[in-house]
Parts: sequence; structure tokens; C-alpha cells
Amino acid sequence: MNNLFSLLSDKKPEFDAPLHVGQLYLPERKAFDAAFNAVFDRHYFTNHGPLVESLDLEIAEYLGVNHAVCMTSGTIAIMVACKALDLKGTVIVPSFTFCATVQALLWSGLKPIFCDVDNESHNIDTDKIQALIREDTCAIVGVHLWGRPCDVNLLQSIADKNNLKLIFDACHAFGVTSDNIKVGNFGDLEIFSFHATKILNAAEGGCVTTNSPDIAARLKTIRNFHSSDVDADVSLRINGKMSEAQAAMAQLSLQNLEMNIANNKSQWNTYYNELSSIAGLKIIILDNSQAQNYQYFVCEIIEEDFGLSRDQLLELLVAENIQARKYFNPPAHALNAIDDFTIWTSLPITEKLCGRVLQLPLGSSGSIKNAKRVSNIIRLANENSNHIKQYFLAENTKDF
Ligand SMILES: Cc1ncc(COP(=O)(O)O)c(C=O)c1O
Repeated sequence: MNNLFSLLSDKKPEFDAPLHVGQLYLPERKAFDAAFNAVFDRHYFTNHGPLVESLDLEIAEYLGVNHAVCMTSGTIAIMVACKALDLKGTVIVPSFTFCATVQALLWSGLKPIFCDVDNESHNIDTDKIQALIREDTCAIVGVHLWGRPCDVNLLQSIADKNNLKLIFDACHAFGVTSDNIKVGNFGDLEIFSFHATKILNAAEGGCVTTNSPDIAARLKTIRNFHSSDVDADVSLRINGKMSEAQAAMAQLSLQNLEMNIANNKSQWNTYYNELSSIAGLKIIILDNSQAQNYQYFVCEIIEEDFGLSRDQLLELLVAENIQARKYFNPPAHALNAIDDFTIWTSLPITEKLCGRVLQLPLGSSGSIKNAKRVSNIIRLANENSNHIKQYFLAENTKDF
């Protein structure tokens, strides 16, 4: 299918080089060099150096939360969070999430019980949680998917009623508000990722936020495998220390956050304006009355109306060098080797969404122009769907 692009144009792929789904934030080279030279000059690369110490405070201040504890990655941050809350037994979590949410729970010795998600919000279906709670259930894990906050108040009341801890995987939701309160303040604690593709980019990194001083003390103790005189009483620790290089990168990213969000927003709005009238392309919309980070432009491709399946459209986009991504592929409950360690019943919405959801390239180094070019290819694919469908049918029957 090397010349699949020729279905839409007879020249060459739309983009000369791959346009990736996460268009990374790149700090100004001069600022980057200055920050890294300072780390070098101090001869202080890790072990709670001055940059990590100040980043903890800067993030807490930005989010309006009492404590932020930075770590090496979002995955490690989830594991440290589970230990800080002393979780044991089963946890209720959506399967429609990035695999790391569930992998971190498994590494923490917990048994995930998968809950289906809501058809519209793509977040954990609050109506389905109660029936899944068992005697050994210790926590609910909500994921603020695509940066759209879960129903935090309802989840808190379900958790309280059942005496469960409440955690949020907020890896998509840095800078987002719910009822004008920044994500990072909800549940017992929340976890962020500062992976390079995230709105706050530390290259790799993450953090846990909480308003509880006790939980914060436990988080700080667990992230450091060494003992120290300010340690809380914890059973197990790990090396979760963020390095000074990561903190330097995160600080630059935090300084440029509003600019990066504005840049994301302009691309998000371009996609919205260009694509919202296409039948069978359902855009996952954002609540503009709340702060958003516009990190993801996500849509569902409904084959009957669009004329092509999500996977067929994706093949066309990839042939044009547009590296859009399908999510989640596979969903967490279908990951290899977790069958014996997880519990699930029927997850119809999750299964349906996994066949429909597509994420388009967007991010700090992306542009309105590129969003327009991507949209144009999608519109052409939709307009020529009959012809393209025939092509796929012929391709599929070729070998028979
Ligand atoms: C929803 C979600 N949870 C967890 C993670 C894991 O974060 P990290 O890549 O920083 O380990 C990610 C990101 O990559 C994510 O998107």
C-alpha cells in the first residue's frame, strides 16, 4: 500500500517527513543551554537538588495545591502513590486508558477491576462502579481522559460511602480546571506525567499532588530509596527521584506553559472548524468555560456515516505521513499476560471506542497550517470514501 496517497492526489505524500501525533515542546536553545550549563557547573545532578526542590514548589503554586512531589515518570509516580496510600487488594479502574495506568497498578501488587466508561465523556462510568466493589476493594482510580476531568464530586461521594481511597490519573490534565479548581486538588491524590509529549515536558518525569501533609510526607519518603531524618514510616521505597536535568527542562516548560496552551488551542480550534461538519466524525469537545490545555484533538470515526472505518482512514493518513494514532490499542483488559491478574465483565463502550477513536497531530511545535493540511486530507478521504472503499475491498481479496 505504499502509494495509498495516490488515491487522494497523484503527486506524493502530503508531508515529506512523518508528522507525529505529539508535536513536542522545544525550549529555546539558549535557555536550554543556560539551564543545563548551570546544572553542570553546580556538579549537582540528582538527590533532591535545588531545581527539583523549587520545581515541587512551583508546581504546587501553579496548581493551587498544598504539595507536589516530582518523580522520574508518571508511571513511577502512580506506583509511589499506591504505596503512600498503602493500597492492597482490588482497585476499580477504567480499561479505556493508557496501558501505563494499569501496568503501574499491577507493579504495585494490586488487582484491577475494569469498569466501563461513559459513551460521551470517555471517563469512568460512575453508574457502574458500585456493582463492581468487593470486600477487598481499596480504591477507585479515575483517569481524566483527554484532559477532560472525571465527575470528581460524584466519585468522591462513591468513595466516601464505601470507605475507599480515590486517586486520579491526571496525566492528560495538567492546567485543566473542574468547577474552576485546578486538577491536582481532587481525591486523596492525583498523578501527572511530564513525558516529552505532555503539555508540561520534562523529557521524562511526573509528579503526585495532594492537599494532605501526611500523604505528602509518605510520598517524599517513598520516592527516595535512602533513609533520612525526615522520613515517614513506610514499608517499601523505590528510586523515584527526579534528576536536575529533568527539573531544568520542566521549569522551562512551565515558564512557557500559557504560550504552549495557546498554541495548542489555535490548532485545536482549526481542527474543530475544519472537521466539525463532516458526517461520521464525532469530535470529543472540551468545556470552554473551564481552563483547558488543548493537548489532544480526539475524534470518533463512525464508519456507517463517514464511509470508511477508523483503521482505513488511519492507513490513508499514514500513507500521507500523518502519524495519527488509534486509542487504546489494545485496551488495558486485552494487554498480554494480565488475564490472571485482572477482573472484568462486559466493557461494551470501551470495546466500541477502541474501534473508533483517533487522535490527530497537535502540540507546542505544531501549527495551524499543518492542522489545515491534515484536515484537508481527512475531508478528501470522506468525500472520496466510496472509491477508496472499493480500493480496500480489492486489496483485501487480492490474495484469495
Ligand atoms: C493516562 C496516562 N497514564 C499514565 C501515563 C504514564 O506516564 P509516563 O509516561 O510519564 O510514565 C501516561 C503517559 O504517558 C498516560 O497518558
